[in-house]
Amino acid sequence: MTLKVETLRWREGALELVDQRRLPLDFAYVRCSSAAQTAEAIRDMVVRGAPAIGCAAAYGLAVEALRLEHLAPAEFFAQMDEAAALLAASRPTAVNLFWAIARMRRCVETARPAAAPSAIAAALLGQAHAIRDEDIAANRALGAHGAALIEDGARVLTHCNAGALATAGHGTALGVIRSAVEGGKRVRVFVDETRPFLQGARLTAWELLEDGIPATLIADVAAGYLMRCGEIDAVIVGTDRVAANGDVANKIGTYPLAVLARRHGIPFYVACPISTLDLELASGEQIPIEERSASEVTGFGDVRWAPPRIAVRNPAFDVTPADLVTALITERGVIEHPDEARIRAFARQE
Ligand code: MRU
Repeated sequence: MTLKVETLRWREGALELVDQRRLPLDFAYVRCSSAAQTAEAIRDMVVRGAPAIGCAAAYGLAVEALRLEHLAPAEFFAQMDEAAALLAASRPTAVNLFWAIARMRRCVETARPAAAPSAIAAALLGQAHAIRDEDIAANRALGAHGAALIEDGARVLTHCNAGALATAGHGTALGVIRSAVEGGKRVRVFVDETRPFLQGARLTAWELLEDGIPATLIADVAAGYLMRCGEIDAVIVGTDRVAANGDVANKIGTYPLAVLARRHGIPFYVACPISTLDLELASGEQIPIEERSASEVTGFGDVRWAPPRIAVRNPAFDVTPADLVTALITERGVIEHPDEARIRAFARQE
């Protein structure tokens, strides 16, 4: 069971992205034929979710290399450096973005001494396809590991969208749920609407309906009540970056869910590929937190409900301390009670 939709696809020499700003009302692809267009699509949330952002950036560099392959090598390499910088500036929190760009740059450096720009462009496209394929494989593997933690009949709360739309396919948090359902377990998903950008109400709700997985949409503020009423058995979320000590950055509103889960003795699981681990950062305090436009809080789309002169804060992510995380679910297995020693041991495995 995998959402039939391709979140990202390569068609006729360009990257195509499902326009996630328009779901669920409209389904359309946006074409990106340059790194600049891809960076714009990431910044503007056409594509979002940490692994999907990384894949999009990889294709953004591949499409740029194909666009520039006629240039002399010196000019080609200079413009590729600029493209990488542009993509790296598109969003700050998801480490998969920087991981994918670094991997693409290594691919350029390896080929650079011997190869012409056209051969490097071909190598970069191959590398982008590999990053996409590996992401799907990682999600399937972590889905299988995580499914073992889900009991038959479980009622699982999730926040934001960590599904096929947030990855190259299958999803992380929703990948665990999909794998559990594939394995014959009955699961009901409680979907936080995820204020202010409504990734839960718009995207997760849509994905689960498409797959026929029972789902109930709730206002974010209802989570504590449902936990207290005994209606939630587990929380599963994705993440944009895990620091070396196991602190986890995810969509704003995740941290209060972890606190509530602890209060009510409910397991709090975080599902992510190894590419989301950032061992360079000692703790979550060092994770850059994106602040987005005030307009996301004062209204939605063309509708405005807050008075125009009101001051607004709009942090897009928060950090959940490692001690509130029951387990990290990765493609290499489950890291229970994550701490630095356990995380480093998993990251070292090949
Ligand atoms: O702002 P977004 O929609 O990009 O935020 C996405 C999330 O917070 C996801 O939970 C996270 O990237 C994990 S996606 C598998």
